[in-house]
Amino acid sequence: MRHLFTNIKTLFGIDQGNKKALRGEEMSRLDRLDNAWLMTEDGKIKDFGDMSEVPEVSIVTDLSDRFVLPSFCDSHSHLVYAAPRDGEFVDRIKGLSYKEIALRGGGILNSANKLRGMSEDDLFERSKFRLKQVIEMGTGAMEIKSGYGLDLKSELKMLRVIRRLRELEWIPIKSTFLAAHAVPAEYTGRKSEYIDMVVNHLLPEVAREGLADFVDVFCEKGYFDLDDTRRIVDKGSDFGLKAKIHVNQFNIIGGVPLAVEKNALSVDHLEIADEKDIAALSNGDCIATLLPSCSFFLSIPYSPARKLLQANIPLALASDFNPGSTPSGNMAFVASLACIKLGMLPEEAFNAATINGAFAMELAKEVGSIKKGKKANFIVTKKLPSLAYLPYSFGENHIEKIVINGKLN
Ligand code: NIG
Ligand code: FE
Repeated sequence: MRHLFTNIKTLFGIDQGNKKALRGEEMSRLDRLDNAWLMTEDGKIKDFGDMSEVPEVSIVTDLSDRFVLPSFCDSHSHLVYAAPRDGEFVDRIKGLSYKEIALRGGGILNSANKLRGMSEDDLFERSKFRLKQVIEMGTGAMEIKSGYGLDLKSELKMLRVIRRLRELEWIPIKSTFLAAHAVPAEYTGRKSEYIDMVVNHLLPEVAREGLADFVDVFCEKGYFDLDDTRRIVDKGSDFGLKAKIHVNQFNIIGGVPLAVEKNALSVDHLEIADEKDIAALSNGDCIATLLPSCSFFLSIPYSPARKLLQANIPLALASDFNPGSTPSGNMAFVASLACIKLGMLPEEAFNAATINGAFAMELAKEVGSIKKGKKANFIVTKKLPSLAYLPYSFGENHIEKIVINGKLN
């Protein structure tokens, strides 16, 4: 069935024809068409053009004064979790750090405890509810990680929930295996045995069931070091899983050069980065995925986005939605923070949150820009004076409607 959207004030995010994630100057170019129409058919973008010549279609929605943007592509999330950690939030307000909370058995291990005790169906229902919420906030494709199970049964439970979310066919979803998120309590002091279990038992089972698209490691002091990361990433690669790695959230321990050496698809977090990191990423294809909502929530440094842009490094923006460091999947807020705190231009922020996010999930053929044949997943804004007004007027909901799989919601 064809659906025509007419009188669009500006259609933003028209595909630039890039085969790789945008970088440098390309990132500040957001191709647009004023006074436009857009036609969808069978859930895909059929065509678009300007209002001087409009095709005849029986179902028409007038979008006068509204902008249209491709839906956000959130390439880093931990959306599947059992319960919020608002108690830890209050502990942090009272002065405890993220690290101190983790050392007391809170943090990731707290989430693992809760998830282990929950049925797969219950976990699915809670996650499905959150997925619906982020879709309503403009997300049209998403990556979701495991990493709150930390044992064979519970990691598989998480990954099966991710598969069930994907099978809903609401939006494209990619799954990332993150058993190396923390060493579970029962393996305290026996980290290498835990990694043995992960690479010798868990990962082969995950691969056998086709439960993951990517492999991830929390490469950080007190979690997994370079040797651990190498072992897990290599084993993932044996099973055809590309790496997307948590690096440089709190400390620089060499995760970035290692990720580049291992041809990682992305390095994520980078709240801090040194010259070596920037040199390793410079001009390469590894996407630096920045998560400014995490910096905001934990009061840690914001990524040096301008330095990374100057070094010709492709940047993506993602939510990091999780119960501990970023209890928000709001990508419009991520775009605001990118402008306000990372010094990114609105065009750079939207490219990073759409097409480059799609590249960071290997979904750029399907989503992330306005292109014939791509999924008809897009955002219709309220009446706004400019594109810049979206990130500028932070915290306000600028989305009037969303279109997912060609359906107007
Ligand atoms: O990306 N840093 C590691 N993982 C998550 C936080 C996990 C948690 O606190 O539950 C992150 O910030
Ligand atoms: Fe994360």
